Amino acid sequence: MSQNDLRLGVNIDHVATVRNARGGAYPDPIRAAKLAEEAGADGITAHLREDRRHITDGDIDGLMAALTVPLNFEMAATDEMQKIALRHKPHAVCIVPEKREERTTEGGLEVAREENKLAHFIAPLRDAGCRVSIFIAADPAQIEAAHRIGAEVIELHTGAYCDHHAEGDFAARDAELERLRDMATFAHSLGLEVHAGHGLTYETVAPVAAFPEVVELNIGHFLIGEAVFRGLTPAVQEMRRLMDAARRGDVA
Ligand code: PXP
Repeated sequence: MSQNDLRLGVNIDHVATVRNARGGAYPDPIRAAKLAEEAGADGITAHLREDRRHITDGDIDGLMAALTVPLNFEMAATDEMQKIALRHKPHAVCIVPEKREERTTEGGLEVAREENKLAHFIAPLRDAGCRVSIFIAADPAQIEAAHRIGAEVIELHTGAYCDHHAEGDFAARDAELERLRDMATFAHSLGLEVHAGHGLTYETVAPVAAFPEVVELNIGHFLIGEAVFRGLTPAVQEMRRLMDAARRGDVA
């Protein structure tokens, strides 16, 4: 199995968070994206939120112009975001739930309840050539619904697994990991491409990276934080190393 059978998408949202804290031009998320690309990222992920709290429309213009690796454009299922995605036609669009008051994307998308609406929403994106991914919890009903609406990819939300690890609740963590593993297998059996992400760190990445059905991990907040201490290039390289080791079955 070649190393990049497991792709790393580096999410650069929080470079923009730091920039926006002062409202100026630095740190520049486009520069971060280019560095991540050179350090081994297979793609760059950016979430244009409705409130533009981190990534801005200008950042998306800049990323589309500057990147040589694919852009994974995360967005809520709104008309405004659909128009922006159709204007740029990024390689991938990941549909995520969005609440104004949340600090981060707290849960997965409720696909099962919004099936018709979402099927109509993603059809033009697929027609435009974007690979559509749906960010969901490890729940068979959501996976089946994502499959029925015509998504090509699901991204499994690893936030609960990482939170349990951080809280030291290892029984809950391992139960969630088991659920993620089973759901990766289930989604793959339906013909869906399986990605995973949210909250992953050097400590939590290996077991998820070892799932054979998972072909992409999207990681942001931890890497941007780690970059403060060791620089973005070594931070990304270390994540790549841990992912590749887990994939080969090495104990990290
Ligand atoms: N995947 C999706 C769909 C996300 O919404 C996010 C957070 O924006 C991530 C992955 C990355 O999560 P984190 O920044 O916690 O690594």
